[in-house]
Amino acid sequence: MYICNCNGIRERQARAAIELGASRPADIFRHCQAKPRCAKCVCDMRQMIQETQEVLALAAE
Ligand code: FES
Repeated sequence: MYICNCNGIRERQARAAIELGASRPADIFRHCQAKPRCAKCVCDMRQMIQETQEVLALAAE
């Protein structure tokens, strides 16, 4: 499933970027060697970053 249709960025690519330290949508775009276009995906990326960081924080406890 794509999180960014403009760049063909899949959720698993975004999740991998977050697990490697991406803390902003811009970091995900950079990791995927892409640039924001319509930016409709930015809110979803922010939500994914927050959810993944919460899961990683729980896992680290
Ligand atoms: S859907 Fe990601 S830039 Fe358009």
